[in-house]
Amino acid sequence: MARKLILDVDTGTDDAVAIMLAALHPDLELVGVTTVNGNVEVQYCTDNSLRTLDFIGRGDIPVFEGLNRPLTRPDFPIPRAIKKSTGVHGLELPLPAPTSVKQSKAAVEFLIETYRAATEEIVLVPTGPLSNIAAAIALYPKFVDLVPEVVLMGGAHHHGNVTPSAEFNIWADPDASASVFAAGFRKLVCVPLDATHEALVSLADTAAMEALGTPAGIAASRFISRRIHAYDANQPMAERGAAPVHDALCIAYLVDPSVITTDFRHVAVETMGPLTMGRTVVDTNFRGENPPNCHFAFHADRGKFNAMMLETFARTA
Ligand code: RIB
Ligand code: CA
Repeated sequence: MARKLILDVDTGTDDAVAIMLAALHPDLELVGVTTVNGNVEVQYCTDNSLRTLDFIGRGDIPVFEGLNRPLTRPDFPIPRAIKKSTGVHGLELPLPAPTSVKQSKAAVEFLIETYRAATEEIVLVPTGPLSNIAAAIALYPKFVDLVPEVVLMGGAHHHGNVTPSAEFNIWADPDASASVFAAGFRKLVCVPLDATHEALVSLADTAAMEALGTPAGIAASRFISRRIHAYDANQPMAERGAAPVHDALCIAYLVDPSVITTDFRHVAVETMGPLTMGRTVVDTNFRGENPPNCHFAFHADRGKFNAMMLETFARTA
């Protein structure tokens, strides 16, 4: 039976690849997409999610718009000029404008209602700032008990991308992130930069995707090529001509958990340090008093990840 999931996204090129992988993989059933302010303002995240789903023939998957700002940060949405990753995403993804429209229900309402009514397990996969998830917890604390597993992209131990210390999704709404990590979810899997920077996708991989000739292959090739050129220019990886596609790694994990290697540790989010705000503090050596709460991925299998994407993007809806 296909595994059900909800994706909470700030689409964004890598969110779009995650959406396509979730919408087309035969082992998964994408129940809905919720959007949140992040890579771009939330209305663009919604539009980008809709146009991605339309392009691959999955306009039947409902999209719900979420929070247009963080719970607490006063300085966000940040001006695009100071957001270093703008070149990685652009404002609108390079696909035709959507024909389907967002749902009238708000994302947080959809999340709470869906989990209250669920008779089967639905994995929650946030790949943007955690504002919607923290709002759902604040409005309905039992939400935490109803979600069987959270698999989120965010955080970093050995890297930072938005600051020397912090990863973007966690940093963009640090108080929301702190509340999600402290909430007590039954199973919390974190896919941070440590893992995603090992699962690079190269220009040779994007050429193979494009050669599939399918809508998903063509779209993935466009999105990821854009990422590679932006990374080469502004944030070069160990290998030039290759870039991480962070969010899609969460989806790959749902299909094949061996695509990442995790350590079960306590993770908390720094919300105040001027140099470290938004940092995921991982108790790697059990120095703190708190028990582990998070399966934190330190490594990823690049070959398995790329093979799964290529196989899935060969499909049409
Ligand atoms: O730091 C990478 C993350 O920030 C990804 O989810 C990307 O889409 C942005 O949201
Ligand atoms: Ca994202």
